Amino acid sequence: MYDHPFQWGSKRTGPDLQRIGGKYPDSWHFNHMLDPTTMSPGSIMPPYPWLVERALNTSSTQDKIKVMRKLGVPYPEGYEATALTDLQKQAESISENLKKDKIDVMSNREIIALIAYLQRMGTDIKKTTASN
Ligand code: HEM
Repeated sequence: MYDHPFQWGSKRTGPDLQRIGGKYPDSWHFNHMLDPTTMSPGSIMPPYPWLVERALNTSSTQDKIKVMRKLGVPYPEGYEATALTDLQKQAESISENLKKDKIDVMSNREIIALIAYLQRMGTDIKKTTASN
């Protein structure tokens, strides 16, 4: 909902992910990104194995929040000061959740951030609509 620039595309190979949040458990996304065919037999989506190897670079996260706020994303004033603590808490909860499905991955890996992103897709608009 708050993507800047909005990620329009004229060519689409995979399905629309705008409402993917909550459709699958975290472990489904983990397995699917590592090898899509394990979760969707016959999938032509490429695997993204490096997402488990690479640590998330958060060096510009605080600056990005400030820019996004300028562009209209409703981050509360000063949120950048606590954002990284929030990020870490959320990452740890996803890592713990994956452990329940016997997947052991450190909370600072890129795959964790991608799962957090995918699980959020389409959920903010529901909240906005509910409060209107
Ligand atoms: C970071 C990049 C990508 C992410 C996060 C991603 C994520 C996903 C997710 C979550 C699904 C499941 C959708 C559902 O079942 O509702 C999916 C399916 C699919 N994606 Fe991707 N995708 C990525 C890149 C790509 C690329 C580059 C291609 C094509 C060349 C592709 C092709 C497909 C196809 C054909 C499916 C349907 C079959 C399947 O579930 O694997 N994806 N993708």
